[in-house]
Formats: sequence, structure tokens, C-alpha cells
Amino acid sequence: MEGFKTIIEPFKIKMVEPLYLTTYEERKQFLKEAHYNPFLLTSEKVLIDFLTDSGTSAMSDRQWAGMMMGDESYAGSSSWQHMERVVKDLTGHTYILPTHQGRAAERILYSYLGRGGKTFISNTHFDTTRANIEFSGSEAIDIPVQEGLDTETYFPFKGNLDVIKLEQLINEKTPEKVGAVIVTVTNNSGGGQPVSMQNMKDVSAICKKYNVLLLLDCCRVAENAYFIKHREAGYENRTYKDIAQELFSYADGSVMSAKKDALVNMGGFLSLKDKALSDACKNLLIITEGFATYGGLSGRDMEAIAIGLGEVFEPDYLHYRIRSTAFLGDKLRAMGVPLMWPVGGHAVYIDAKKLYPNIPVNQYPGQALVCELYLEGGIRTVEIGSVMFGKYNEQHELIPASMELVRLAIPRRVYTQSHIEYVIEVFEKIMAKREHVKGLKIVEEPEFLRHFTCKCERL
Ligand code: F0G
Repeated sequence: MEGFKTIIEPFKIKMVEPLYLTTYEERKQFLKEAHYNPFLLTSEKVLIDFLTDSGTSAMSDRQWAGMMMGDESYAGSSSWQHMERVVKDLTGHTYILPTHQGRAAERILYSYLGRGGKTFISNTHFDTTRANIEFSGSEAIDIPVQEGLDTETYFPFKGNLDVIKLEQLINEKTPEKVGAVIVTVTNNSGGGQPVSMQNMKDVSAICKKYNVLLLLDCCRVAENAYFIKHREAGYENRTYKDIAQELFSYADGSVMSAKKDALVNMGGFLSLKDKALSDACKNLLIITEGFATYGGLSGRDMEAIAIGLGEVFEPDYLHYRIRSTAFLGDKLRAMGVPLMWPVGGHAVYIDAKKLYPNIPVNQYPGQALVCELYLEGGIRTVEIGSVMFGKYNEQHELIPASMELVRLAIPRRVYTQSHIEYVIEVFEKIMAKREHVKGLKIVEEPEFLRHFTCKCERL
């Protein structure tokens, strides 16, 4: 509402889901049983679930109504036609392939583009993106701008890709060896930070010059559009959707996890301009996901995606979404909690290295904070640091990630202001105890995506 400080949720609640309260002693036991990895907690033991904004949105009454009209035909379903129409209109790309979630689209596209061992270059590859690329025998290189690695100084577009390094890398690797350049909007692993239109244009010009494929990882494209409208000159009077359409226009294709900005619990797609590439992907889609008019989705899921992609660009919704994330970040920052500044679109990222300077990176300060947040307040979060992205050298010593962040990802349309006020109060305890917190060691881990299932012990 104009002229008021309070950000009101632009919806009212029609259906509720209970939350269960637990005691500190119970949480201590639950955390131990989950081997200090909250991915291993069952959800009823969690009070405020900030693990992810993915697939956790509350759908609208219109989306639920759409689900009732889902057409479950194996081929040519009307729900697919609805989704295809909406996605074509948004992306401007000719070929749309439905998938059951983002990483299915990634697996199809990157296993095909990466055959023979290629290099993929991104502002920052998300963990599943990197894993899919590396699993297929290619390499994934992150080149965010320098400002993106500085958590404290204000910069409007910390999600930007470093275009000078991009050109150097393409020359060094040779253009034929570059599988694709992937611009992730917003840059999730880099703090949910936006990419500017100018950066997208510059990246596109370089990709065109060297004939390298440019892809948009677009799962938070509406949130990115909000930042462009409010921070980049020349976009003040454009609509959010129009801005998103312009972003897509510079790319040769996109990969979408609909579990974010399509406001649904499951779904995704691939969009492409090139027929030959689309045909190759369609073959893989049919072998591994499902027929080309449903991918791995039910008709009702496709109907909900089509409707959600419309709702996400509504100005009242986007304003509430971005401002309420910033509300949490601003309050924590005022309290002295070190965090990625300015606050990103879908999450607040705490700088755990600065919060716990006494915990060395090989004792995982981020994971220590994740555990403290659960213990103190039943809040579940995720480490985006050396547990997620750390590697080992030949002596099995940790090669740490560039940052030790903890993400408080906010599900869309789920929590109210009082939930957020409670989280702020929990941080008062975190701050009071910060000098006494100890690190952790990893005692069991898989080869890929270790943060999901690894087991830790307290030091
Ligand atoms: N790309 C980005 C930028 C993502 O954030 C995600 C998922 C994916 C791709 C993969 O999509 O989960 O549908 O297979 N991010 C979630 C998160 C899991 O918590 O940030 P998916």
C-alpha cells in the first residue's frame, strides 16, 4: 500500500496447515539423530522451514481451480497446450519441452551439449547444474563479477557475469570447446543477487561474436525483473513481464525449475530456439521423462504452472515478495548480523565466516550456524559454502568454497510477518552466543551433492 511502512501480504488465508512446536531439549536430540545435517530431519520437527523456496510455494485458489481442470491425456493434452502457450509468450522461444523439475531439463540439455567433454561458463552454476555438467564429464567454471564476492558493499547487480573473463576464457578454451554460457537469474548460489539487462546484453554480444550458445537459468526471472525495473535506468516504466521477455530475447534457450517463480510444487521446462537441438533433447525427454506433451508432469501440474507464470508478474505480489525478504535482511543487518548486502530476491544469506571468525573454514562455520538456528528456534536453513561446494586436493585437504554462506530461503506466500518477527528474535540469541559455538567435521559423504546426505559430528 502506498504511503504506509507496513508491507501487507497481498492475499488472505483460506486453508491452513499446522506447525508443531518443540523444546530445545527435543531439538538437541533430533539434530543429533539427523547427524547435524537438517536435510535429514523429518519436516514435523521443523518450525520455520527456510531450507528452500523451491516447490514450497502456496498455490492460489485459481491455481487449485486450474488443477481440477487438468487434462491427463497422454498426448496433446489441453493443459500442455495452455502451458506451452504461456511459456512461448514469456520466452519468445519456439520449442518448449516440459520436464518434471529443473534438474531434469539440465540433465537432458547438458548431457547432450557436454558430450565429448566441454567447458560450461556461468555467473555461478547452481549445485545441481554443476553436478549434471560434471557428471557428464564436462567442466563448470564460475565467473561472477568481483563485486559479487564482497558481501558488505552495496552494488545493484552483484549477480552479473564477468564479461572480461568470459571473453578470455572462450579464447583460452576455444569457442568450439565451450558447451554453453549459462546466466542464472537471480544468481542463487551467489546470494540471490540480480543480473542487469546491460550485463545480459554484453554477455549475449560476446556469445554471438564467438558463436557460443547462451542459456538463461530462469527459475527466478520475475524476481530478477523486479530489481531491473527498480535499479536500472530506462526500465522504470516497463512491466515486469516485458523486462523478463527482453532478458529471454538475448538467450538461445532457457532452463526453468517451475518450483520457484511459477509458484508450483513441481515442474520445469526447457525452451530453445534451435530445431536440431530441440529434436535431440526431445529424444532424450521421451526416453527418460515422458512424451513431449507432458514430460514428467501431470496435466494438472501443467495447468498450475500456466496460471502461476501469470500471477508471479503481478506488481503487488512481486513488491510484497521482494520487500518482505528485504524486511528480514534489513532487521538482521541492523542487529549486526553479517550478511550479503543488498538482500537478494528469494533469500537472506548470512556470512557465517564473519559471524563465527573463530571457526576455521575446514570446520564449516556455515554448517555450525545451520545447526544453531535449528537448536535455538527450530529454523531449518541450508549451508551454501564449503559443505556444498568444497572439494579435496590430493592430500585430502579441503579446497574451500569462495564464501561460507547460510541461506534463509523464503517460501512464496507461506509465512506471515509474525513468523518473520520470530526469526528475528531467534537471531538475538544467535548473536549473544556467537563466541561459544564450535565447528563440525564430516564423517560420511557421497561423491556428488554431498550436502544433501552427508553426516557430521560436533568438534
Ligand atoms: N537452477 C537454479 C538456479 C536453482 O536454484 C535450482 C534449484 C535448479 C536449477 C534446479 O531445479 O530443484 O527443480 O531440479 N534450486 C533449489 C534451491 C533446489 O533450493 O535453491 P530443481
